[in-house]
Amino acid sequence: MRGDICDPAAVREAIGAGVDAIVNFAAETHVDRSIHDPEAFLRTDILGTHTLLEAVRASSIPRFLQVSTDEVYGDVAQGESEETDAPRPRSPYAASKAGGDLQALAYWSTYGTPVVITRGSNTYGPYQYPEKLIPLFVTNLIDGEPVPVYGDGMQQRDWIHVDDHARGILHVLDHGALGEVYNLGGGNRHPNIEITKRLVAACERDFETHVRFVRDRPGHDRRYALCANKARALGWAPAVDFATGLIETVRWYQTNEAWWRPIKSGEFIEYYRRQYAHR
Ligand code: DAU
Repeated sequence: MRGDICDPAAVREAIGAGVDAIVNFAAETHVDRSIHDPEAFLRTDILGTHTLLEAVRASSIPRFLQVSTDEVYGDVAQGESEETDAPRPRSPYAASKAGGDLQALAYWSTYGTPVVITRGSNTYGPYQYPEKLIPLFVTNLIDGEPVPVYGDGMQQRDWIHVDDHARGILHVLDHGALGEVYNLGGGNRHPNIEITKRLVAACERDFETHVRFVRDRPGHDRRYALCANKARALGWAPAVDFATGLIETVRWYQTNEAWWRPIKSGEFIEYYRRQYAHR
């Protein structure tokens, strides 16, 4: 069923008999959108999480998994973020996700609500909404359009394939300890410009013609890197080779235009104009 996680009645209705876990994938997720409209992020990512926590507290559901993000740790100039590191979010999006995480952990300490949290790194793969770096660049390149690299393109992300991320969430749901946080990092750390070069090559386009360096994202975190040893100790490990996963992702967008073309129309065009016209 379709509903708003901020609506307690809708959430109650969705939690019928026989629910053995709630996994909260619902979120406002895009940093650039949070810079334009922070309030939507506070609402969904904090109030929505709170609404779900209240529903779990009032039920006998034995497990609530909060899907979170490495962005709550903020910029890490060197080394790796560990679960015990204090959250230092630097965008409205990251601060909202940190707010949801802290609510969940507070419910565990205060009420014993059975929560567990995963913090994933930058995810890529099929069916990703084309506002994100990889699907945006691939679909632009398919159309022969330019791709906008923020700043100098030397920001580093820690990439994980969606299949590895999904398996990690399921693994933590089954085996994670209540009240604990588990980082799910792919370990594939590359600067954005390196990803861009690979995508340009995979789409058989020309770097000089198609790559535009544009004004940087405000407050842009330079580097994320997750230590995933705790999740690995539970028996999970990412399995998808990055070079293979990236090429397969490009091929997926090349052969599934019917999925993404309708998305890149309407509201998306308006968002794209607002986001990129002045860069
Ligand atoms: O790290 C996990 C996070 O990854 C998730 O929590 C977020 O929900 C998800 O949106 C993603 O956040 P990022 O801001 O890292 O993803 P995005 O695809 O927007 O950007 C990846 C990098 O590419 C980042 O350094 C900004 C840069 N970028 C992005 C876009 C959309 C560009 O240079 N140009 C662009 O047009």
